Amino acid sequence: MQYLSTILIVDDDAYVRAMLRQVLAEEGHELIEAMRGDDALRMVSEHLPDLVLLDVMMPGIDGFEVCRQLRAAPQTREIAILMITSLDDRFSRLQGMTAGADGFISKPFDRSELLAQVRTITRLNRYRHLLTEQARFAQLIQLSPDGIATLSGDGAMTLANASLAALLGVEDPQQLDGQSLEVFLTTDSLDRYRSGVDLVLSGAQPSVRLELNMRAVGGQQIPVEVSFGAFRDQNGSVIQAIVRDISMRRRAEAQIQQQISQLTSLHAIGVAITASLDLETTLSVLIDRLFAHLHVDAVNVLLLNQNTQMLDLAASRGVALPPDRYVSVAQNEGLPGIAFFTRRPVSIADLSCEDLHNSRDRYLRDHFTSYMAMPLISHEQSLGVIEVMKRDQVEPSNDWRIFFETLSIQAAIAISTAGLFAQIQQANVELSHSYNATIEGWSRALDLRDHETEGHSTRVTDLTLQLARRMRLSPEELDHIRRGALLHDIGKMGVPDRILLKPGPLSSDEWQVMRQHPIYAYQWLSAIPFLHEALSIPYAHHERWDGSGYPRGLRGDQIPLAARIFAVIDTWDALRSVRPYRMPWPEARVLAHIQSLSGSHFDPQVVEAFLALMRDQRELTVH
Ligand code: C2E
Ligand code: SIN
Ligand code: SIN
Ligand code: FE
Ligand code: FE
Repeated sequence: MQYLSTILIVDDDAYVRAMLRQVLAEEGHELIEAMRGDDALRMVSEHLPDLVLLDVMMPGIDGFEVCRQLRAAPQTREIAILMITSLDDRFSRLQGMTAGADGFISKPFDRSELLAQVRTITRLNRYRHLLTEQARFAQLIQLSPDGIATLSGDGAMTLANASLAALLGVEDPQQLDGQSLEVFLTTDSLDRYRSGVDLVLSGAQPSVRLELNMRAVGGQQIPVEVSFGAFRDQNGSVIQAIVRDISMRRRAEAQIQQQISQLTSLHAIGVAITASLDLETTLSVLIDRLFAHLHVDAVNVLLLNQNTQMLDLAASRGVALPPDRYVSVAQNEGLPGIAFFTRRPVSIADLSCEDLHNSRDRYLRDHFTSYMAMPLISHEQSLGVIEVMKRDQVEPSNDWRIFFETLSIQAAIAISTAGLFAQIQQANVELSHSYNATIEGWSRALDLRDHETEGHSTRVTDLTLQLARRMRLSPEELDHIRRGALLHDIGKMGVPDRILLKPGPLSSDEWQVMRQHPIYAYQWLSAIPFLHEALSIPYAHHERWDGSGYPRGLRGDQIPLAARIFAVIDTWDALRSVRPYRMPWPEARVLAHIQSLSGSHFDPQVVEAFLALMRDQRELTVH
């Protein structure tokens, strides 16, 4: 999935516009243009572009003023702005920073630098979308008919939704903050709950589902199904729990339908976070440039560690600081500390003339002669310090300083961007946990609709995974298969009860409806990019090897392997279970039946692997 960006190019010089258009042409963004400041403002409010490339000197309103006005209006405040300035025009750059520009493009254009800047900003926009999606997901959690809670590693609730509060008879979900779920469990459930928590916290199992008894504030007992999984964030382990009241077994179809449509709008998960604008790469590019353009002999980049409030050595080249003593310094310690604390550059032409109180600084003096430290500041925040050293004694020229300063500004922007990326990648991991929990919720709801298929989805999922593993499918494929198997009959939600629960054989009209269920599944799920690869099973699990299946009459290898595997398991589990229209078959009869369909309904290789799996399982239970 692509979020293409809209970019507004503002320059009164047609040649500059043409150049920019040409460089950006292959990126696939929508490009729009304005020649004047006032036109630019009008076009921004009309098109709400993701990025504005903004010239400074224009007839009428100049670029700084356009920038200030965009920053002042709430709808346009977040739009990224890159100002077009000449490389050596330091005054313009500082003025642009004050007006709120996010960065600068130098005239004449350096193609790769321009592209790098534009890519960074358009990627960042994508991640902003993701954050919005995450907020919507949080809202979905609040609206969910299931009780949902987030617990910290010690079991205290850090977030609980309204449904959970209602279930437990608590008026306000906030009253649950800091409480343990254990308070609401009956004694017979407590041990099982605790061992379940241990299983997910230790990572022994990704998720656990338990049937437990809870006691609401009013004293009444409620049978519940609790599912939970754990993940780690900056603050340690977090457990996500879904609590379902199973005294109300049947869920309204409408509710699930609504969840589907809500989830459909949360498409952002399909945006693969491939752009690894990680800090390490950013810093190494920075250091390359310092060496190439400033001819320094050594560079250290120190970044503020939010946890320790120390300046940690994040990257270094040309100097081997003894690791134990000098990798972290206090914010106000030594020469880098002065630059960080005063937010001003520190420049020393000859270290040997200085009276240095700090052993780290004295160590640098033993190896280098001149020294300069530049604070890294972005959005008013001090992020760290870059220090550069030279062996010979130099008084830096004006150009040299300006270049260093400009590079530091750009580095600071890049570093804060990298930090944001890391944060958002974490958000993405959490989002995918929530999705998995939601899928399990659906799948249970599906089984509940028809008492007799209860547990069917979980059983077929487990068995399908075993068979798929045996047939050497990759871990990634197994992930899709798990989701696909859990949701395989989601399409049956479109089949009315009178058909689904009919105690006898179906008429041909009724079959007509029943045979739509893989198509419904496809129509609903294909709107969710996160589930694209999981679609094979819901869509193709009733296809047959010889082409006589439905809905598409695929044959042989045309049927996705996952669906061929699943079809055997589905039939196995269906025939071993009660249905409204028949009693379970004995195991031997089911095995013989499946064998007899090898090569007609089923892929012979899958049948062979399945029968071997069954043999192995039986041997395990016999011995
Ligand atoms: P299901 O009950 O989950 O069954 C899945 C598949 O297992 C069936 O796909 C079929 O291949 C196999 N299977 C299940 N029960 C039997 C059986 O009694 N005999 C044989 N030979 N195979 C069986 P299929 O046939 O495409 O059916 C799809 C779904 O349609 C079934 O899902 C069930 O929900 C419904 N269905 C099928 N036959 C009847 C019926 O006679 N009456 C009612 N009320 N529903 C039926
Ligand atoms: C899919 O894999 O997209 C659905 C099943 C199929 O195409 O056969
Ligand atoms: C199938 O539909 O895939 C085979 C099971 C059957 O119809 O008996
Ligand atoms: Fe089915
Ligand atoms: Fe099924």
